[in-house]
Amino acid sequence: MITGTPIWVQLVYLACAVSFILALKGLSGPKTARVGNLIGAGAAGVAVLVPFFYLDLDHVVLILLAVAVGSAAGFLGAQRVQMTQMPQMVALFNGVGGGAAALVALLELADFADLVAGQGTADLVPTFDVVATVFTIVVGSVSFSGSIVTFAKLQELMTSRPVLFPGLPLVFGGALLVTLVLAVVVVNEPSTLFGVLLGLIGLVIGALLVLPVGGADVPIVISLLNAFTGLTVAAGGYVLGNVVLLVAGTLVGASGTFLTLLMAGAMGRSVLNILFGAFKGGSTLGAGEASDRPVRSASPEDVAILLGYADRVIVVPGYGLAVAQAQHTLRELVEVLGARGTQVDYAIHPVAGRMPGHMNVLLAEAQVPYEQLIEMDDINGDFKQTDVVLVVGANDVVNPAARTTPSAPIYGMPILNADEAQQVVFMKRSMRPGFAGIENELLFDPRTTMLFGDAKDSLGKLLAAVKTL
Ligand code: TAP
Repeated sequence: MITGTPIWVQLVYLACAVSFILALKGLSGPKTARVGNLIGAGAAGVAVLVPFFYLDLDHVVLILLAVAVGSAAGFLGAQRVQMTQMPQMVALFNGVGGGAAALVALLELADFADLVAGQGTADLVPTFDVVATVFTIVVGSVSFSGSIVTFAKLQELMTSRPVLFPGLPLVFGGALLVTLVLAVVVVNEPSTLFGVLLGLIGLVIGALLVLPVGGADVPIVISLLNAFTGLTVAAGGYVLGNVVLLVAGTLVGASGTFLTLLMAGAMGRSVLNILFGAFKGGSTLGAGEASDRPVRSASPEDVAILLGYADRVIVVPGYGLAVAQAQHTLRELVEVLGARGTQVDYAIHPVAGRMPGHMNVLLAEAQVPYEQLIEMDDINGDFKQTDVVLVVGANDVVNPAARTTPSAPIYGMPILNADEAQQVVFMKRSMRPGFAGIENELLFDPRTTMLFGDAKDSLGKLLAAVKTL
């Protein structure tokens, strides 16, 4: 425990820290997520209030004003955001957190610099505290500017394609080197001016880190920057002697790191490939050509008959479902099939869509019961006994090239075993590939039927046709 802090404050902070852990536990399942969120938000609110009761604060009115402005912006932003804009909202909040941590660390550094100037020696300033402060300034600034660029990409305020310019790796490497040298200088002799310089270079590094990342990889980078912010907050907590910041930051840092690794793993790619793949010329934004090989296509009425005869149907939702905003029509179709006695489930691939839990969020928004959403590992054994797989706006997550073609960018990514079912129906607009930009052999399989068109439009027609059966 931190000395000098009243016992009651330490106990409240301990309760807040435990609440953060409980909140994370709650957030790990859809049924408990809301309660988890409330516990976390409540604990954060208490942690913000506590200092008003035991510290002799200056500028209380200004602090309260800042809290009011921040709370109002957060509340209104969260109220207005669309489900599909969630990643950029997270990016913005995360960036602000990193920026705030960097600013607080700059003030701490200024105090250290004053102490050194007053005593004429740096001996009395704990070296590790200055190291943690410098780390917070740099990484917090990286997280701030990186998050702002990710926000701009996802909000389409700038191109979402990888942005590269000649010499970018050199500038990036140079900036890292200068940061290292400056950091060593500041640790030896705390200086506010050099601290500000470090922060500015951190801003440049953050932007350069994210600019080469293709739009569809941005959610993974957001998760990585989130982990960075967590680590800066933890380091800030150490310097300020604040246990609750230390615990909260460590939790965010650890969970952000795990989420990043899990997402990259589920895509069969390394984090380095996601961050720096564009330098090698491999754009991460799906850009493959549409195939002109012959396929079997059918009308919504034909597909309705296929579904009408099926006892077991599995729906594979993907990115196109989110694009078409067809989740409500899909839920209705599944309900009508269920009422006819067909067993229907949704197969959820961990990286279907473009953000973690994209399909879960999308289908939850359409009030699809959680029990019908079955994770890949739990449903993959069922495809063999399935009459029809309805692939709605998905492609890569059922592409057998992930198993069979070592040169494919998705090789090694676990996929849903849709190819093991009796019949497969693909609902998409064209023969264009998905995110990975490669052809999907399953589209040409004799058991596959294409239902071309926008998913919302096609599902509407399919629903109407199924109702007439
Ligand atoms: P994709 O492989 O990208 O396929 C989506 C398909 O949806 C496309 O083939 C597209 O075909 C179709 N589509 C688009 N708009 C449509 C519309 N309005 N109506 C009907 N169809 C539409 O998606 P997936 O199977 O969900 O796989 C996800 C991919 O994204 C994976 O490669 C994954 O690695 C990557 N990724 C995922 C994440 C996370 S965390 N989920 C993050 C980054 C990248 P048409 O153009 O012909 O319609």
